[in-house]
Amino acid sequence: MSQTTPADTIKPTATTNHNIFATFYERLSRSAYERSFMEPLRKEMIAQAQGVVLEIGAGTGLNFALYNPEQVERVEAVEPDSAMLRYARERLKTAHVPITLTQAPVETLPFADKTFDSAVATLVFCSVTDPMRGLNEVRRVLKPGGILLLIEHVRAQGAFAQQLQNIITPVTKRVAGNCHWNRDTERNVINADFEIESRRDAGGRVQRMVVVRARHTT
Ligand SMILES: C[S@@+](CC[C@H](N)C(=O)[O-])C[C@H]1O[C@@H](n2cnc3c(N)ncnc32)[C@H](O)[C@@H]1O
Repeated sequence: MSQTTPADTIKPTATTNHNIFATFYERLSRSAYERSFMEPLRKEMIAQAQGVVLEIGAGTGLNFALYNPEQVERVEAVEPDSAMLRYARERLKTAHVPITLTQAPVETLPFADKTFDSAVATLVFCSVTDPMRGLNEVRRVLKPGGILLLIEHVRAQGAFAQQLQNIITPVTKRVAGNCHWNRDTERNVINADFEIESRRDAGGRVQRMVVVRARHTT
């Protein structure tokens, strides 16, 4: 399996408590931006989840209400941040499928190999301390043939937009829970040996958003 980062040299923070960012994010969760831009993308992605589902970095739990009980048996949601978890626990009430919420980072998932049919991450891999280690963990816990569903903002195209991302990233890392605007998550997914089945740009130039469906192949 190929790796682009020395996973063993980066220590993922097991848990965090980004109180201010979580409060801000909860407000954003109730905003027109969430309703008009993010919610349709979430619906499109979560509609593809089936079987036993892993949700990575569940945040405030905005995806919980969207899992379809006709397709999804249960969801194991992980979230490392205590402040985010407080909001996510409240949103468990909105779910139509059984959801278990566990405090854990994607780099060290507390699940057996080949547990899941689908894995979902929305706006997560920009913030993960060691994304390659996280993606390798997702591969480990997915069944062969399992699907990875992602909505992520990724590396921009074009030198000017990339330069802007490089300037913004030290700020967003500090104030937005380790968010890297300049991270090439799509490339990381390929490097982690997932096969991209479909992808599309969902808008944005400096914060370029993509919707990706990838498969665990063996
Ligand atoms: C921008 S929020 C997105 C939350 C949610 N997925 C959503 O779509 O609204 C990023 C989330 O990734 C989580 N996160 C950061 N590092 C992580 C890691 N190593 N493993 C799992 N989740 C992580 C953060 O705690 C935060 O909840």
